[in-house]
Amino acid sequence: MASLKILFMHPEGSLGKGIQEFLESQGHAVKWVPDEDGCRQSLDQEIFDGLILEVKPEGDQTVELVRHAKKAHSFGIVICLVHPDQLPTALEAMEEGADGYIKKPCVEKELQIALQRLQEYRSLLGANFYLRRTQDLIYRFDDIIGDSQALKKVLSVVKKVAYSNASILIEGETGTGKELIAGAVHYNSGRSEKPFIKVNCAALQDTLLESELFGHEKGAFTGADKQRIGRFEQANFGTIFLDEIADMSPSTQAKVLRVLQEQEFERVGGTKTIKVDVRVISASNKDLREEIVAKSFRDDLYYRLNVVNLSIPPLRERREDILPLANYFLRRFSGEMSKKATGFTAEAEALLQEYEWPGNIRELRNTLERSVLLSEQDWIRPDDLSLHGTDGMEPLNNVEKFHMPEGGIPLVEMEKKLILEALEKANWVQKEAAQYLGVSRRVMHYKIQKFGIRNPNWVKNK
Ligand SMILES: Nc1ncnc2c1ncn2[C@@H]1O[C@H](COP(=O)(O)OP(=O)(O)OP(=O)(O)O)[C@@H](O)[C@H]1O
Ligand SMILES: [Mg+2]
Repeated sequence: MASLKILFMHPEGSLGKGIQEFLESQGHAVKWVPDEDGCRQSLDQEIFDGLILEVKPEGDQTVELVRHAKKAHSFGIVICLVHPDQLPTALEAMEEGADGYIKKPCVEKELQIALQRLQEYRSLLGANFYLRRTQDLIYRFDDIIGDSQALKKVLSVVKKVAYSNASILIEGETGTGKELIAGAVHYNSGRSEKPFIKVNCAALQDTLLESELFGHEKGAFTGADKQRIGRFEQANFGTIFLDEIADMSPSTQAKVLRVLQEQEFERVGGTKTIKVDVRVISASNKDLREEIVAKSFRDDLYYRLNVVNLSIPPLRERREDILPLANYFLRRFSGEMSKKATGFTAEAEALLQEYEWPGNIRELRNTLERSVLLSEQDWIRPDDLSLHGTDGMEPLNNVEKFHMPEGGIPLVEMEKKLILEALEKANWVQKEAAQYLGVSRRVMHYKIQKFGIRNPNWVKNK
């Protein structure tokens, strides 16, 4: 039996100790909390496979806790340990979603059987099906955090179109959540129990990408010593997610267009035409319209892919989402790493909100993961975030006073000028220039793009 991570609520004492030891001897990881408060707190901070809790004589708290646990982790298993006198409460808890109860005092064998059954049940039904049965709510939307109007707008379109077969093009900068949204579309469509297949088109060169997508026959090219089933065939009746489509070669583009138009293709080196029923979701962090103008992307393919367009704004354009996301990642990583950090100081919050987040939500997530790992306190402070890489730089008030020109100077111009100066001083080495300005390389890169700064050397080296 695979091991489970179990939250165990039981008053301290030898009975609880016995159960804990028994569960651990079965290979499960057990977190023991003595009371409701501890239980609630743990549920809010960590993800568990199951909760085992003792039904209290004053049953209301137990029922409420089960409700809370099911809400927090709708797919976790909840088992009540109950004294025969408190059976009605256990039944009430079952109505709230508890998966079973075991009568005290004889619990060990029954616990083992109950956990085993529930595990088999879970794997039999398959994670998706189980989730949807118990959750009732739409799978995965709960994982998408944010309160901004911009995000709500995207999600409302997702809800509207998920069930159709329409092709969807998701656009947005790196790390904005394109893949997450693609998953939400699939898992909320009628295809959710069929495969969701992802292909990163930028990761493979021409022939390899074609063989990845459409498969190949034995001997189709050097090294093709076996027949291979491609991703489109694997995705039959499900969804294929084509990531970074701007990087597809013209020949691959033509073949993908044919699948979209005729739902058919041949394997590389094959003659048999294969019919598929696949929904296509694609994503790009490049502007495809520009690629069309530059003649590197087919416009007919673009129109086929872009029946529905979802454009996910960068995080800096929906700053309301920063703190909810930061808190979500903080809770998650604190839980996973058993750290005590539970919040941010006011200064850290301000820093999070002011920062530009060129790497968007992925950068925020990584920042939080690193900060939680390094933090020793209850609160994350600005230093823990190490966002600006300003270590070792002189504070501005020690620098010679800056002289404002008579007529003033636009801040944006000033910024651009400083970046150019730093680049020149660093011989156009971006990493070094970033150090001069006390920003990360990513920020530097982002600013260079933003201001359209070009250096002849970079073009030559390309
Ligand atoms: N609204 C959100 N709520 C919670 N997590 C999010 C949200 N948006 C993105 N994430 C998380 O941020 C990370 C990056 O998201 P994702 O991989 O979907 O981005 P992407 O747009 O596909 O990036 P890339 O263009 O680099 O492939 C993932 O860990 C994802 O789960
Ligand atoms: Mg992605």
